[in-house]
Amino acid sequence: MRQRLAVGNWKMHGNLPENWALLDKVAAAAGGLSRAIASVCVPFPYLAQAQSVLAGSKVAWGGQNVSQHPKGAFTGEVSAGMLREFGCRHVIVGHSERRQLFGEDDATVALKAGAVLAEGMVPIICVGETLAERERGVTEEVVGRQLGVVADRLGAEGLKASILAYEPVWAIGTGKTATPEQAQAVHAYLRGALARCDKSIAASMPILYGGSVKAANAAELFGMQDVDGGLIGGASLVAEEFLAICQAADG
Ligand code: 13P
Repeated sequence: MRQRLAVGNWKMHGNLPENWALLDKVAAAAGGLSRAIASVCVPFPYLAQAQSVLAGSKVAWGGQNVSQHPKGAFTGEVSAGMLREFGCRHVIVGHSERRQLFGEDDATVALKAGAVLAEGMVPIICVGETLAERERGVTEEVVGRQLGVVADRLGAEGLKASILAYEPVWAIGTGKTATPEQAQAVHAYLRGALARCDKSIAASMPILYGGSVKAANAAELFGMQDVDGGLIGGASLVAEEFLAICQAADG
C-alpha cells in the first residue's frame, strides 16, 4: 500500500509566537493518525523551532526550497546538508512559485532533487500546468516534460525515494480546486509515465495533489485512486483545517 501524506507548505508565512501555537496543536493531534504522515515545510528561519516542537511527535518537517550546490560562495542560499542538520525529512523542489517567480527551470529542479536525495532526505517534486496551458490542451505534455527531466537525472534509485506533487498553477491560492476527476486524470497520466520508466516505482510512489485543498474537499480528492494525499498551502496555517485534511489523508 502506498504511503499517504498531508504536507503543509507554509510559504512565506508565520512568526515565532503563532508558529508555537500551530505546531503544538498539530503535534498533539497528529498522534491519532494511523497511516498518514503529516509534515510541515516551514520557512528556513523556523526550522529550529519546528525541530524543537515536533521532535518526538508523529509530525515530520522540512524545507520549501534548497540550493542545488552542496556548499560555496552562493550568498543567500541554503544547502541540503544544512536542512538535514535541522532534522528535515521532506524538501519541496520545483514549486510553481519558484519556477515562475524565481526562474527555476526543469534542469535546476532536477539538480535540487538530486541534492536532497544525496543528503538522505525526500524531495517532493512539484509539477503542474498554468491555466493557459490547460486551455491549450497541453497539460500532459507540460507535466510529462517536467517529470521527465527529473526522472532522467535521478534514475530509478532516486525516483524510488522521491514523492511527486501535482499542483495545477491555476488552482494554487485561488480557491479554484481541480475537481477530483481532473486531479485523478493527471495523477493517472503521471503514474503511467512513471510506469514506462519502472513499474514498481509507479506503483509505490505517492503522488500528492496541491491547489486549494481544504477540509471541505480533501476527502473527495484523496478518495481518488491515484491521489495519495495533499500538499497544502493556505489551509495548513489553520490547525483545525490542516488536522482535518490529515485525517482525510489517513482515510
Ligand atoms: P493553496 O493550498 O494555498 O492553494 O497552495 C497550494 C500550494 O501551493 C502548496 O504547495
